[in-house]
Amino acid sequence: MTKLLRIFAVLLFATAVALPVWMPSTVESQTEALTTDMDAKTDDLFNNFGARGTPVDECVAEPVPPQAGRGSGTFEENKFIFSERETIDDGLGPTYNDTGCVECHQSVDVGAFGQQMEFRAGHITNGAFVDAPGGQLVHARATDSDAMEHISTAETVKSFRVVTSTLGDGFVECIANATLQNNVNAQPLGQRGTLTAVPVTEANNTLRNGRFGWKAQQASLVSFAGDAYLNEMGITNKFDGFGGRSSSAADAGTHENPCSTADGVLNCTGAPFDPVADPEDDGLDVIAFADFMAATRAPGRQNPIPAAATRGDPLFTQIGCAVCHTRSFTTAAAGTSINGGAFLVPAALGNKIIHPFSDFALHDVGTGDGIVQNAGQGSANQMRTAPLWGIRARNRLMHDGLNVTIFDSIQRHAGQATAARNNFNALPAGSRSDVIAFVLSL
Ligand code: HEC
Ligand code: HEC
Repeated sequence: MTKLLRIFAVLLFATAVALPVWMPSTVESQTEALTTDMDAKTDDLFNNFGARGTPVDECVAEPVPPQAGRGSGTFEENKFIFSERETIDDGLGPTYNDTGCVECHQSVDVGAFGQQMEFRAGHITNGAFVDAPGGQLVHARATDSDAMEHISTAETVKSFRVVTSTLGDGFVECIANATLQNNVNAQPLGQRGTLTAVPVTEANNTLRNGRFGWKAQQASLVSFAGDAYLNEMGITNKFDGFGGRSSSAADAGTHENPCSTADGVLNCTGAPFDPVADPEDDGLDVIAFADFMAATRAPGRQNPIPAAATRGDPLFTQIGCAVCHTRSFTTAAAGTSINGGAFLVPAALGNKIIHPFSDFALHDVGTGDGIVQNAGQGSANQMRTAPLWGIRARNRLMHDGLNVTIFDSIQRHAGQATAARNNFNALPAGSRSDVIAFVLSL
C-alpha cells in the first residue's frame, strides 16, 4: 500500500467508526419542549424565547413592547401587555367581544382557555356560504348601543366558537409546512386531513399552512394577534388583515369592522363611533402579544399520571384516535426561515419535540359549522382536529362548547372519525373509562 492509500484507508475506517457516533448526536439535538404544569400557582410559563425580564410594576414603569421586531422585548412586559384591559381611549370598539386578550385566554393561566364564545353567521347563496352583511363575525359588545350588531333571520348558518388555548403555540408556529404535509400524507386516504394555506399578513400575504384556530385559519402568531386585536377588541393595527390586506398595504390598519346593526350596515370607521385615529395601535402591541404566546411552554401532562390514563394511552392509538390527534411533532431547526421569511426559528423553539395531539389539518367529522373563512367552500363542514394538550384544563368542549364530557365529545365524532368512535364504543366499559382518563391526563 502506498502511503497515500494507507492514509485514505485509515480515514475511511475513522469515518466508519465515527459515523454511528455522529449520526445519533444529530437526533439527540432534538429535545422535548419545556412544559408547564398547568397550575397558575406555579410561575413556570416562560420557555426561554427572548429575555425574561422582571414582572412589571406599573407604578414604577409602564411596560415597553418589543421595539426591534420579534424577540426584542421581555417576556414579563409582553405578558403584562397581553393582560391589559383596553379602553375607548385606547381604541376599544366600536364593536368588540371583550376588553383584553387575557379576559378570554386566562384559565388556568395567562394565554390559555376561557368559556367565552365568538359568534359567526352567514347564509347560502347558490350553494355557497356568504358572510353576514358587514362580516361573518358578529360582535357581542359595542361601545355605543347604536353600533350594536344584530343579524336578521336571513342569516341561516350560525356558529358559536369557544376559546382555544395559545399555550405552547410558539412551538406550533415553528413546525415546518413539510412536516405537517408528511404527516397528513401518511394518513389513510379516507381519513386524510386537509391542510389550509393561508396568507401571512406580515409577509406580504405569502401563503403558509394554517394551524391556529378552529378552522386552521391562521399560520403565524403575529397574523392571529393582529386579527384578534381588531376582531375581538376593535383595535385597528397594520397586522389586522382587514379586507385581506397585508401589513405592507398603504392603508393597512385604517379600517374598523363595519357594524351590522338592525338599521343596516354602518361604516364604523371615524365619527361618530370611532373617536381614536386609525391605526389605533402602531403594531408593537401585536408583536408583544405574539411574543408572549411564542414564549409560553407547552401544556404538560397531569402529574402524577393516573394508572387509568396509562392503561388508556395505548388504546387511544389502537382505536384510531391518533390518526388525526397526532401525538408528536418536531419543530424546524433553529435558524430556519418561516412565516414567509418574516421569522427565524429561535433556539428556544427549534428542534423541539411537542405532543399537541393534533395534525392541525381540517377534517369532516360530522360537526362542521358551515362557516367558510379562508380555506374555500370545501372547508365549510370541516374543522381542525382539536389539539388535546391541556384539555384537562377546560370543560366546554368541541368548537361550539356544547359538550361538557369527553364521552359526549367522542359520540359527536362521525364522518372521517366514524370508525374511531365505533371502536371506542365497542370497548368494554372499563377500557372506555381508561381512554377518557388518558384524554383528561393531557
Ligand atoms: C372575546 C374573547 C377573546 C378575546 C378578547 C381574545 N380571544 Fe383569542 N380566541 C378566542 C376564540 C373564541 C378563539 C378561537 C377562535 C376560532 O378559531 O374561531 C381564539 C383563538 C386564539 C388563538 C388561536 C389559538 C390556537 O392555537 O388555536 C390565538 C393565537 C389568539 N386567540 C390570540 C389572541 C390575542 C393575541 C388576543 C388579544 C389581542 C385575543 N386572542 C383575544 C377568543 C378571544
Ligand atoms: C378523523 C379525524 C379524527 C379522529 C379519528 C378523532 N378525532 Fe377527535 N376531533 C377531531 C376534530 C376535527 C375535532 C374538532 C371537532 C369540532 O370541534 O367540531 C375533534 C375534537 C375532539 C375532542 C374535543 C376537543 C376540544 O378541545 O373540545 C376530543 C375530546 C376528541 N376529539 C377526542 C377524540 C378521541 C378520544 C378519538 C378516538 C375515539 C378521536 N377524537 C378521534 C378529529 C378526529
